[in-house]
Amino acid sequence: MLTVEEQTQAAPPAGTGAEKERAVQRMFSSIARYYDLNNSLLSLGLHHAWKHQAVSLLDPNDRIVLDVGAGTADLALLTAARLGEKVRIVAADLNRPMLAIGVEKVRKAARQQQIVCVQANAERLCVPDASFDAVTTGFCMRNVGDLTTALREILRALKPGGRLICLEFSRPVAGWLRGLYDWYSFTLLPWIGTKMSGDHTGVYEYLPASIRAFPDQEGLARVMRDVGFTRVEYRNLSGGIVAIHIAVK
Ligand SMILES: C[S@@+](CC[C@H](N)C(=O)[O-])C[C@H]1O[C@@H](n2cnc3c(N)ncnc32)[C@H](O)[C@@H]1O
Repeated sequence: MLTVEEQTQAAPPAGTGAEKERAVQRMFSSIARYYDLNNSLLSLGLHHAWKHQAVSLLDPNDRIVLDVGAGTADLALLTAARLGEKVRIVAADLNRPMLAIGVEKVRKAARQQQIVCVQANAERLCVPDASFDAVTTGFCMRNVGDLTTALREILRALKPGGRLICLEFSRPVAGWLRGLYDWYSFTLLPWIGTKMSGDHTGVYEYLPASIRAFPDQEGLARVMRDVGFTRVEYRNLSGGIVAIHIAVK
């Protein structure tokens, strides 16, 4: 069995920029059909609670919300459920197979009047400046080619005073949890994920490696401040396995 360090090295080459973007998109195309099921299985159902927590931080007066890296539209649907009929949501993702599942879920929930799913790159959002009351993003920032570019683009899209709510994997606070979590994510998770989806692109090895390579709670807050966000704060969920960063334009 490989050590955690060896498995990090064995993960598919993520690279940076366009190279990383292509590799990540190949992975999501390969697992899109299994994404929701595997998400529930691999997070032991916790991702539902994490997503609920994230949308609970939206302001009840938000009327137009952008979800970046919307995937299969979970956050967009929860936002519609929380803020009611008056809210309009743009669910943007680069990956067509993921979005196609999102479109179907939006249709089944009869939310087509409220949620529009669009294919767009987080680093080049095709939206006007200062047009959204809030931006949500769930488990996407770790996957973009360039984090700073994506955060700058989100800042541009927000109205002054608008808030970014960013849900992302982070760093468990307690040492014992970090050890357990490393074992789970580098050993058990790739095995289950690959068995369930039959994936051969290495996405379930990429997942823990990308989490480890991503800035921790303080690091991400720093990048957000450097980009120009103010009043950046974060909350740890599940002992810091996941964190929600809230940042204001
Ligand atoms: C782990 S999934 C998260 C999906 C959804 N937000 C959720 O919480 O279930 C990450 C998503 O980010 C998308 N993504 C990655 N890089 C992107 C980019 N540069 N622009 C837009 N979407 C991107 C992927 O296509 C994928 O659907």
